[in-house]
Amino acid sequence: MKALILSGGKGTRLRPLTYSGAKQLVPVANRPILFYCIDNIVNAGIRDIGIVISPETGDEIKETVGTGKTWGARITYILQDKPAGLAHAVRISKRFLKNSSFVMYLGDNLIGTDIRKFVLDFEKKRSDALILLKEVDNPKQFGVADVRKNGTILRLIEKPENPPSNLALVGVYIFSSKIHSAIDRIKPSTRGELEITDAIQELISTGHHVKSFVLKDWWLDTGKKDDLLTANAIVLDEWGRKKIEGTIDKASRILGRVSLGRNSSIKASTVRGPVVIGHNAVIENSFIGPHTSIGDYARIVNSSIEHSVILSGSEVIDVERMEESLIGRRVRVFRNHRHKALRLMLGDDSTVEV
Ligand code: G1P
Repeated sequence: MKALILSGGKGTRLRPLTYSGAKQLVPVANRPILFYCIDNIVNAGIRDIGIVISPETGDEIKETVGTGKTWGARITYILQDKPAGLAHAVRISKRFLKNSSFVMYLGDNLIGTDIRKFVLDFEKKRSDALILLKEVDNPKQFGVADVRKNGTILRLIEKPENPPSNLALVGVYIFSSKIHSAIDRIKPSTRGELEITDAIQELISTGHHVKSFVLKDWWLDTGKKDDLLTANAIVLDEWGRKKIEGTIDKASRILGRVSLGRNSSIKASTVRGPVVIGHNAVIENSFIGPHTSIGDYARIVNSSIEHSVILSGSEVIDVERMEESLIGRRVRVFRNHRHKALRLMLGDDSTVEV
């Protein structure tokens, strides 16, 4: 069994954060989303991983992920020169995949469960495809399954106008090599892409064995700000650990699971976990509340922050109360004591609520 992680695209929904970087590298609890995908694949016993990258963000992904050695895995990078669809990504990866079965994992999807049990089921039943479904409130934005009462799939439709159910296709699939000939038989969709949903539908129509499971655990398609904050909170809740590498002075109080990276310091502050703080960060005379992630080299002074994600190199100074905020890299937020008016310098596609 091999794995193919799809890590291309432009990440328009997370702008402005993704102007300067790949959406799969946006951190959740201070680790890129993509790292959780690799963890999950490696935990399922898969070591041979292909990552499909785009010309725009491929170099950044290669640099961040590297050879796979940290995971004991071997990573092959495959360049998709245009965003021509998920099935197109599989087609151009044929040389890497050969005749092997494979897990296909969308690099911006986070799921709260091990995929190992699905890999075992797929191998035992010798299925041609295994898909995961999840009940959602907004099925129009996903691939949707029309399912019989006994769980067998009638059909799959990509981004339907009138969804036949609220069961969305999660971005984690397992395929046998039969998927390649199915892809060869499909045509591009109205959005001009070769859809993996259509290729799985083709397998169903030609009588192949496609199995589905409905996920009980959480699934986050981290496309937008609120999704990212939710993902951050869930990951901190479930996987956050207490680990102190930096220094904490006597005037500070640390409660619950707080992780503090090397060379970081907490002075005269209260930090209430679950919270993660990267390395070389400074927290001074502040309150950091639950579900907050603070990146490397960040500085938080005389401020109170809760349920937020602050990326590396940013500063928050003299801010009485910040909540549910997503702050990019090298951003400065501070109170100007002389002027009452807001004085802003914001990049394209920024949002400020005052
Ligand atoms: C893709 C798939 C869709 C699936 C979704 C999950 O959509 O085409 O079927 O439900 O991923 O994240 P896209 O992100 O390309 O809009």
